[in-house]
Amino acid sequence: MTREMKIIMVTGAAGQIGSELTLALRKKYGNDNVLATDIKTQISPKLRDSGPFEYVNVIDRETIEQAVRKHRIDTIYHMSAVLSASGENRPQLAWNVNLNGTFNILETARENNMVRVFCPSSIAAFGPETPRLNTPNDTILKPKTMYGLTKVAGELLGDYYVKRYGLDVRGCRYPGIISYETLPGGGTTDYAVAIFFEAVKNKSYTCFLREDTRLPMMYMPDCLKATLDLMAADFSRLRHHADFNVAAMSFSAGELAAEIKKHVPDFKIAYEPDYRQAIADSWPESIDDSAAREEWGWKQDYDLATMTADMLNILQRRLQKGALNY
Ligand code: SER
Repeated sequence: MTREMKIIMVTGAAGQIGSELTLALRKKYGNDNVLATDIKTQISPKLRDSGPFEYVNVIDRETIEQAVRKHRIDTIYHMSAVLSASGENRPQLAWNVNLNGTFNILETARENNMVRVFCPSSIAAFGPETPRLNTPNDTILKPKTMYGLTKVAGELLGDYYVKRYGLDVRGCRYPGIISYETLPGGGTTDYAVAIFFEAVKNKSYTCFLREDTRLPMMYMPDCLKATLDLMAADFSRLRHHADFNVAAMSFSAGELAAEIKKHVPDFKIAYEPDYRQAIADSWPESIDDSAAREEWGWKQDYDLATMTADMLNILQRRLQKGALNY
């Protein structure tokens, strides 16, 4: 467990987190040492031109094995997943990608004697029976979405591989992630990204959640920091493995709109809750992440005000340059 990571593979590298994580890992470990993989072969030029890419479909184990052997991979960041809202539209696909995909990744890692694997979980692991405020790390996990139940199984599977096989599996429960490079797809927290693009482009947004729906959220730089810091942590200090709560901020859709209005005074918001409201209502409002703080020194940099200012600043500059791709 003390061997150094050498060659890294990222699954879901074209996704919202995967795309930025791949670039951050390339910066940290060298471009050639970080293999981007995805089922999508249309990837951004930044990703394509900065290092190797392979097609990997995580439900087809052979494609994983091929990439791992060809590039002598010893560390995996397993970012592919079907998110909460998409998962309710296609539960069978979500089961297959999230559960069988994670099983395939862990089995490949075990058989190839890998150094470390990152398998992210989500606030979707919680459910309506979980305490909603300051949700503890170790608590009731009875999610009601297919995405959530596959994430709980993934956490348990990760912990199982640590105990049973000595494979170093790590993961945290991401809150909703806000970013401007690659748009999220199929999540319940996606509104918190779309609202920024619409505020800059059209000065109005219709939100698919109610005004008072408060959820845990995190800005992408903190998401990358949490991921890299957890993976760099000293194994002997970890009492948890694949199920760390990580928190940065919590806000309601109304509070986010009010923060945006401080910068875009004529911004207008309307609320038309849809099927995603029930998903959001089953998740916590705020998260207790003291285990992550104690065991690997987690600490966020951004809150609602600093994240909002940064997002708007970057998107407004892009709009002025005619480069707001949305
Ligand atoms: N952002 C995810 C979703 O909304 C939660 O992990 O599905």
